[in-house]
Parts: sequence; C-alpha cells; structure tokens
Amino acid sequence: MKSNYPLACIFDLDGVIVDTAKYHFLAWRALANELGFEFTEEDNERLKGVSRMRSLDIMLEVGNVTLSEDEKIRVADKKNNLYVSYIEKMTPDEILPGVEDFLKTLKESDVKIALGSASKNTPLILSRTGLVPYFDVVVDGNMVEKAKPDPEVFLMGAKLLNVPPSSCYVFEDAAAGVEAANRAGMYCVGIGSPEILKQANKVIAGFDGITPDKLFI
Ligand code: G6P
Ligand code: MG
Repeated sequence: MKSNYPLACIFDLDGVIVDTAKYHFLAWRALANELGFEFTEEDNERLKGVSRMRSLDIMLEVGNVTLSEDEKIRVADKKNNLYVSYIEKMTPDEILPGVEDFLKTLKESDVKIALGSASKNTPLILSRTGLVPYFDVVVDGNMVEKAKPDPEVFLMGAKLLNVPPSSCYVFEDAAAGVEAANRAGMYCVGIGSPEILKQANKVIAGFDGITPDKLFI
C-alpha cells in the first residue's frame, strides 16, 4: 500500500454512494399529504443522515401534527413500505458517478473498506446496486444503538476492520455524519457543499474525477 493511503475507508451510503434522498422524499411527502400538509424538498434536507423515527418527528413538526406512539409506528412502517417499493427497483446505474472506480482502486491498493450508514435498508440497496463485494464490513441501522452524530457506527466499523480510528477516512454527506466522524477521531471528507459541511477536513462535490492519489494527503 502507498504510504499516504489510510488503512481503511468508511463510506456513508445515502448521498455518498447512491442518491436515495429522492426516494425518501417521495415517500415522506406522500405520507405528509395523507396527513393533510405539504412537504417540500427543502424540508427533506433536514432528514439527511437522520434515523427513520427522528425523520418522522421532523416531518410531523413541519406539519404541526401530533401522533400517539402507536400511530407513529404505523406511519413510519407505511413510509418504509413505500420507500422499499422504490429502492427494490434500483439498478447499478444509480451508483453515483466515480464511486465504483474509487472503490475499485481502494481494493486494488489493499485499503480496507467499510460501510457506515443509519439505514436499515442498507443490505437491500447494496445488493440492488451490486456493490456488496467491495465491502469488507457493513455497519448499518440494524446494528447500532446510537444514531449519528454519535460516533458508534464509525467506531464499530473500525473495530470490525481491526484498524485504529486515526487510520480511517470517512466519506459523509450529512452534517450529523461529519460530526460523528470527528467524534470518532477519523479524517472526514465531506461530499457536497462546504457551507453545510464546515466541520469536515476536506470537502469534494462528488467522486467524479477523484482518485485516491489525488485525495489522500
Ligand atoms: C440515512 C438517510 C436518512 C434516513 C436514514 C434511515 O441516514 O440519509 O435520510 O432516514 O438513513 O433510513 P432507513 O432506510 O432505515 O429508513
Ligand atoms: Mg448520507
């Protein structure tokens, strides 16, 4: 392995590897409309990187709606069924530009690769997009107790890879995820806008045209 390369890279899923935010948006909007209010793309921004039940709370806050715990579970299940109906049709074409080449180069360079996502639908998305073989370890919303910005998801990834946190790079598109990486003591590359991802060590727009040689310092 080249000396400037980290021992491991940990990738967030939604917004880093695939653009599933549009499907989350369609599903949450349908549920909001059913409850009688509008839900905009701007509102949807607040749900990025946030767990399913916390997303529901934000969505209900937008509509000024209060539900009982039982009703909340019913609405969250309904949202997820709708969301799953979209993602079960995903194809490898939906992998964001440059991501697969980047993963390929890491693999060829013997850098360990983990996935660290809040999504309980991670296994389905990875299998629909054909990306399962790239990951040595997958940590998702089914395995962690504390959601980002808690560092649990990334620390578990490093532990399972048997690599110290300080030798890991994290790739994240959400502010909560950048904070989680910082708290884990990992180097964080933000994917998206530098204004939103202020706490990242470095920010790139996406992986298109980005190679590990260009990125690792
Ligand atoms: C990711 C997404 C969030 C989503 C969360 C849970 O972090 O960025 O928007 O709410 O995963 O996803 P799930 O598939 O478990 O509902
Ligand atoms: Mg994300």
